[in-house]
Amino acid sequence: MTTYRIPQHGQGSGVTEEDLTAVTAVLTAGRHLSDGAEVARFEEEFARRTGAAHAVAVSSCTMALELATRVLELEPGDEVVTTPLTFQATAAPLLGRDVTVRFADIDETTLCLDPASVTAALTPRTRAVFTTHYGGLCGGVEELRALTGRAGVALVEDCAHAIGAAAGGRSAGTWGDLGCWSFHSLKNISTLGQGGMLTVRDAGVADRLRALRAINPDAEFVPRSKPAEFGRYGTGTVPRPVTHEKNAYTHDCARIRSGGVNAQLADPAAAMGRSQLRRLDSLLARRRAVAERLDAGLRELGVQVLGTPEGHVHAHHLYAFLLRDDIDRDELVRDLEREGVEVVLRYFPVHLLPEWRRRGGVFGSVPVAEDVWFRRLVNLPLSPQLGLDDADYVVDAVERALARQRVGAMA
Ligand SMILES: Cc1ncc(COP(=O)(O)O)c(C=O)c1O
Repeated sequence: MTTYRIPQHGQGSGVTEEDLTAVTAVLTAGRHLSDGAEVARFEEEFARRTGAAHAVAVSSCTMALELATRVLELEPGDEVVTTPLTFQATAAPLLGRDVTVRFADIDETTLCLDPASVTAALTPRTRAVFTTHYGGLCGGVEELRALTGRAGVALVEDCAHAIGAAAGGRSAGTWGDLGCWSFHSLKNISTLGQGGMLTVRDAGVADRLRALRAINPDAEFVPRSKPAEFGRYGTGTVPRPVTHEKNAYTHDCARIRSGGVNAQLADPAAAMGRSQLRRLDSLLARRRAVAERLDAGLRELGVQVLGTPEGHVHAHHLYAFLLRDDIDRDELVRDLEREGVEVVLRYFPVHLLPEWRRRGGVFGSVPVAEDVWFRRLVNLPLSPQLGLDDADYVVDAVERALARQRVGAMA
């Protein structure tokens, strides 16, 4: 394994004494570790922090996206618009469904969906737009909210990178109908390595998600009109143990939307999440200081710095900048790696992954995203473990790499 002088992510949010104390308190309280008391507190605090009406904790962001997709009740022939510049999890729940997925293009100044391209992709069959707040910036979210509202389609925000992000004074995950969050190890805060959350506007949807994550089917239950007519249970006594929220004797099922899964977050993980949430502002401040130092240094080098647009709070999960046409990106990345700077490019365009090509994804359909990915995007390390001197080293390494190419071109 290569050891880099400047690794891409460090240890994500890291672990402090405070975190360990919070987790140990739950582990040693003598309670059942899945009773949900700590999870309920984490949900309440996450909802308060984001201003979301409801928060529902789950085992990962991938699971949050899956459950979000289930509550949309997509039907065969429905259409969903999403971004190609995202981790494959964003579109994963759509892959196995009989729906048409349209990849819209990105805005190269934010690397998020371009609202104009989304508008062009809408049809009368569109039911939802899935956007990703790439790197921790809610690019275009206000326009996406307005256009999905006008079209009467759902907006799902993939907030995996966006813990701490806001636009127009509102947190990520509260613009759309559903926000899906990740507490994976490398994210801005973590819940023992894996974890997720849904932020939800509608109380009924939050209830359905709570039932779904805890193995209950997403279904409509109605009181039995003739409770006595139920085979061997028809004696009037309720069967024990009761294994279902709506017990077998008292209710019938009128409609099944989808089966449930076990996507619960464990209480020790929630305790870690609560502890990390308390220090989110200091974690964000450290990310911001490094990102702003990189911005300032790279601006001097004549590359396209993305920065933070007016009115946005950036969560600085990933750092990205774009090269201009005269620089060979792959050569520059190799050079940075030789200098000990780890470069992990994110993300290979989803529509060109083999499984999406099989479903019709073709090169040339989203030219901005493809140009950015194949020729111009560079991601640099960003984590709260890095110092300003590390940022200076990275900028100097980029400067040397650019200079080598320019000298080479003149020779
Ligand atoms: C944009 C995006 N969406 C979703 C996910 C999936 O998150 P999780 O690992 O919590 O399932 C990730 C994880 O890296 C991500 O980057």
